[in-house]
Amino acid sequence: MKILALETSCDETACAVVEDGVKEIASVVSSSAKLHEKTGGIVPEVAARKQVESIVPVIDECLKIANIVNPAKEIDALAVTVGPGLIGSLLVGVAGAKSLSLAWDKPLIPVNHLVGHIYGAFLTEDQSDLIKFPAVVLIVSGGHTDLIVMRGHGKLEYLGGTLDDAAGEAFDKVARLLGLSRYLGGPLLSAEAAKCQRNTLSGKLPRPMMDREDFDFSFSGLKTAVIRLVEKEKPPIAEVAREFEEAATEVLVKKTIRAALKTGAASIVLGGGVAANQRLRSTLAASADKNKLPIFFPALKYCGDNAAYIAGAAYFNNRPQPLNLITAEPSLSIMEL
Ligand code: KG4
Ligand code: ZN
Repeated sequence: MKILALETSCDETACAVVEDGVKEIASVVSSSAKLHEKTGGIVPEVAARKQVESIVPVIDECLKIANIVNPAKEIDALAVTVGPGLIGSLLVGVAGAKSLSLAWDKPLIPVNHLVGHIYGAFLTEDQSDLIKFPAVVLIVSGGHTDLIVMRGHGKLEYLGGTLDDAAGEAFDKVARLLGLSRYLGGPLLSAEAAKCQRNTLSGKLPRPMMDREDFDFSFSGLKTAVIRLVEKEKPPIAEVAREFEEAATEVLVKKTIRAALKTGAASIVLGGGVAANQRLRSTLAASADKNKLPIFFPALKYCGDNAAYIAGAAYFNNRPQPLNLITAEPSLSIMEL
């Protein structure tokens, strides 16, 4: 089954064609992030206008790469991200997908962006067969940090999440504080941390809520602690970056492993933009290995926002809806849809 999916929840305009939820035929992502660097943050109206400009060229390019000349014959269904996200951006994808659904006479499957992130790890034939349920899923993105038990496709139970800043948001704010980047500085912060040979600041930043039995997180205090540490000790930037990365990673890893052990999980799955972080990947892999828990990561190209995992989520949770019931839902939670 070939699904064409659109993803326009924030500053990426993406289109993908995926076969049976696991095999990418084509995936195109166009980002307006460079524009938002200038303003040091996303301006929703600017992002929405860019979506309007990009959506048709991105769909065209995707069909070309997939070598699809007659979509009405070659595509079986459509999928689109309906939320959470920015209303102006979401509307572009939803309107585009509804138009294609009418033009090609194909069913349209609405997808929750956060559920989509889970399916990044399923996007290879080999790996998708190996992920056994129940799986504990950690989603770490720019807007969300959630721990979930997945008992099967469409069977999610929420364990906990951040009470304030998301993990990616904390990386971005600390990157800005350290003067590394004004917008989406997570990868730059991580690159700076990699320059640190020896972390003499080890343990100087707090590990918020790490030893609490619940599965909630809090990252806003870490940012304040970084400000104090920099003001007081004026340490090398690379060491601060490394200590921050270690603090955030330790909390994420400890809570994820505890969740897996407590729920008797058969596997662990990671998803979201921060899943690209190498320290998080290697620390989580080592800890999972020690506890004999199989762990599954998305390929790096499926960590950040893209439409391939939206097509994957649509395939495994195949619930088309009538077009009049499909709307953009900016505040959708992971447990909805
Ligand atoms: O999932 P995503 O692409 O967008 C949202 O749905 O939010 O996640 C973007 C987030 C940003 O905060 C970005 O800085 C962070 O993921 N990120 C990273 C890395 N790559 C992306 N954070 C830490 N280390 C990385 N290597
Ligand atoms: Zn995302």
